[in-house]
Amino acid sequence: MKITISGLKADIGSIGGHITPSKALINEVENFIQKNGAQLIIDSYISHTGDDIAILCTHEKGVSNEKIHKLAWDAFLAGTEVAKKQGLYGAGQDLLKDAFSGNIKGMGPAVAEIEFEERPNEPFVFFAADKTDPGAYNLPFYLAFADPMYCAGLMLSPKMSEGFTFRIIDVNYVEKDKIIDLHSPEELYDIAALLRDNERYVIESIYSRSTGNQSLAISTTRLHNIAGKYTGKDDPIALVRVQGEFPATGEILAPFQIGHLVAGFMRGSHTGPLMPCKLKATISYFDGPPIVTGAAFSIKEGKLTEPADVFDHPFWDYVRAKISEKATEIRRQGFSGAAMLPYNELEYGGIVDKLNKLEKKFKIRE
Ligand code: 13P
Ligand code: 13P
Ligand code: MG
Ligand code: MG
Repeated sequence: MKITISGLKADIGSIGGHITPSKALINEVENFIQKNGAQLIIDSYISHTGDDIAILCTHEKGVSNEKIHKLAWDAFLAGTEVAKKQGLYGAGQDLLKDAFSGNIKGMGPAVAEIEFEERPNEPFVFFAADKTDPGAYNLPFYLAFADPMYCAGLMLSPKMSEGFTFRIIDVNYVEKDKIIDLHSPEELYDIAALLRDNERYVIESIYSRSTGNQSLAISTTRLHNIAGKYTGKDDPIALVRVQGEFPATGEILAPFQIGHLVAGFMRGSHTGPLMPCKLKATISYFDGPPIVTGAAFSIKEGKLTEPADVFDHPFWDYVRAKISEKATEIRRQGFSGAAMLPYNELEYGGIVDKLNKLEKKFKIRE
């Protein structure tokens, strides 16, 4: 049976700043999908990570399906009305276009979708990150799919030993999708050379070379490329099919213990460690730290089980404590150097105006 999992996520308003959506807002989106999606989708799961609401749904309509995307867009619009009524901050923040135009991609919300022939048992993990951008997934998924130091299956599983194909997108090229396919292990160094630049080259998808099947899909929206200015961070989602020909769930999770430094944090303009959090995590310290949550599911004929919270385990309390130290450590240097993003990534237009004004006051010494 060919099934599609679609993840669609947007920030449409939140309580007390960029912390968390309200219950009324989440309920509205949930009710909207239940009422209007009955004929279209098999199953759905509505969640929030930080201030972002995600619609996860299963169906038989394939990826980039106009009806599925419209359903999500309309649900986000309905939610925005509730956000406005409640006076939530940033109501409709990620809905950057006025009218739906066939595909939600390029309109603000994040989208990650995979279509596949369902295996007899079909486990997958849905990741959602807040206060960061799609490049935040480069390192953990590079390590999980290409490095035997993190993924034992690359040595131990014959199917995985053939390696994986990484499809990488240049997110700075905005006219069309500019992509490249590179194969691990032969092209590992080329993959690394691109993925070191989290703000430009982003993993879009990963495929098993033994079966050709897709394991991973990541949303690659960069909002400032759509809006031409800062409207909020591009808080990315990812879908990962696991086990069998793909890495085990635990191998996918392993690199998240690093708490590597990513772009985002306060005003989308800083560097901070990515903290793996429990489902429904909110946002706090310095509008951060950047967070990622993971909901694992099994699926049968498109029907979802309840989610299992992959970062709800005593081990991750230890990791979170260490990452908190890392977050406070980099925050100690405030705006200086590596703590704040380089000029061309600074998300607030204000500093550009400021520097332009100062430029005129500079004098050349004779
Ligand atoms: P089981 O033998 O319990 O299925 O575990 C295998 C595995 O994939 C562990 O990562
Ligand atoms: P969001 O993109 O999650 O709304 O965060 C925006 C921000 O500026 C936080 O300081
Ligand atoms: Mg927000
Ligand atoms: Mg957000």
